[in-house]
Amino acid sequence: MTIPAPVTLEELFTLYESRGYRKYGEGVNALEHALQCAALAFKDGATQELIAAALFHDVGWFLTIGGDSDDVVPVSGDHAALGARILSPLFGPEVAQPVALHVLAKRWRCTIDPDYFDELSEASQITFVAQGGTLNTDERSRFEVHPGFNAAMALRSWDDRAKTPGLDVPPLEEYRSLALHVATSWTMSRRFAAG
Ligand SMILES: [Fe+2]
Repeated sequence: MTIPAPVTLEELFTLYESRGYRKYGEGVNALEHALQCAALAFKDGATQELIAAALFHDVGWFLTIGGDSDDVVPVSGDHAALGARILSPLFGPEVAQPVALHVLAKRWRCTIDPDYFDELSEASQITFVAQGGTLNTDERSRFEVHPGFNAAMALRSWDDRAKTPGLDVPPLEEYRSLALHVATSWTMSRRFAAG
C-alpha cells in the first residue's frame, strides 16, 4: 500500500489523524507516541520548531509502515531521512534537521553509553541493528561537532520517554496553531531572503 507524502499542513494533520491508530509497538500507538513526545518537548521549554519536530519526527514512519497490519514496528533509519524530506519544505531546517538526525542520535548514545542500549525499549533495541548499530570513530566525531547535535539529542531523549500507555496529554488539535506559526515563519523568512 502506497501512502502519498503530505505536502501541506492540512495533509500532514490528516495523515496523523488517519494513521495514528497504528501500533508503535511499545504499548502506545503512533499518534500517542507523537503527542507524548511533543508534550515532553513543551514541558522542557523547547522552541516551537523543536516541539513541531517532536510531534512530527516519525512522519516518515507513518508512510513506510505497510498494509493494514496492526502490529508493525519501525525497522530502519530511513524514516528519519524521509521525514526530514517531508518536513523541510513545510517548516524549514530547524524542524527537519533534528528529525533527520534523531536516529543517528540514538546510535551515538548507544556507542558512548552501553547502559543506554539496555534501557531502550525492546522495539528500539531491535531497530538499532537495522539502523546501522554503533558509530565508528569518524562518524562519532563528525556527529559530535555537528551544529544540530544538541537539538537531535534533545529530540532523542523525548522520543525515548514518549512511550507511556494511557498518559493524558494535549490532543493533536492543540498543535495546529503552533504548526501554522512555525510554517508561516519559515515561509516569510524564505520570502525575505529571496528579496
Ligand atoms: Fe519516535
